[in-house]
Amino acid sequence: MPEPVVLTGPRVTLRPWRLPDDLGPLSAINGDPEAMRHFLNTMDRAESDDWGRRIAADLDSRGWGFWAVDLPGAGMVGAVGIKPAPFEAEFTPAVEIGWRIATAFQRRGLAEEAARLALAYGFGPARLDRIVAWTPPANEPSWRLMEKLGMRRDRLFDHPRVPEGHPLRPHLLYGIDRAGWIASRLGA
Ligand SMILES: CC(C)(COP(=O)(O)OP(=O)(O)OC[C@H]1O[C@@H](n2cnc3c(N)ncnc32)[C@H](O)[C@@H]1OP(=O)(O)O)[C@@H](O)C(=O)NCCC(=O)NCCS
Repeated sequence: MPEPVVLTGPRVTLRPWRLPDDLGPLSAINGDPEAMRHFLNTMDRAESDDWGRRIAADLDSRGWGFWAVDLPGAGMVGAVGIKPAPFEAEFTPAVEIGWRIATAFQRRGLAEEAARLALAYGFGPARLDRIVAWTPPANEPSWRLMEKLGMRRDRLFDHPRVPEGHPLRPHLLYGIDRAGWIASRLGA
């Protein structure tokens, strides 16, 4: 088992999951129709607990993955991190960056801060060459965040886990490689 990785920014800390304590707040996010409006479904408590235990085990086994986003005074307010894409597509195998912040804590720059920590870990200690992300076109907060991080829009693809004909099936694919990440940090 690798050493647990904790990433600390000015406001948030990305830390390993504390089970079972984090499962309640995680379920509040995963069961919130507003936070989950660009997903196929909200999750009930059992589905959320299962997802939480899986991302926690995945993080523990590799050292990096989807971390718990901890905000001092508020506790666990989201999940942000990098992990291998969980399905096969033309662009896989690939490592994705993903984010989910509790509705009450959105628009405060927390996802951006957490994502920058995760990208730095990915291109630094994890030695990744490229990180991708995907989201439905209607999820403007998510793709705007990708663009703010310096990720470039690549193409539309059909998400293999969304049924054919469903309006959420087309997804935008974004990506950033190490050179692009360095350039974005230099403001290029
Ligand atoms: C996408 C999400 C993680 C953004 O989290 P957040 O903490 O609110 O984002 P930040 O405050 O760090 O915003 C960073 C940038 O993201 C973009 N952004 C975030 N929310 C936005 C919104 N409502 N509309 C447009 N752009 C938005 C902007 O570029 C913003 O920079 P700016 O504030 O300088 O304009 C959040 O909306 C969320 O959790 N959504 C629900 C879960 C989800 O859809 N996850 C993605 C699945 S693909």
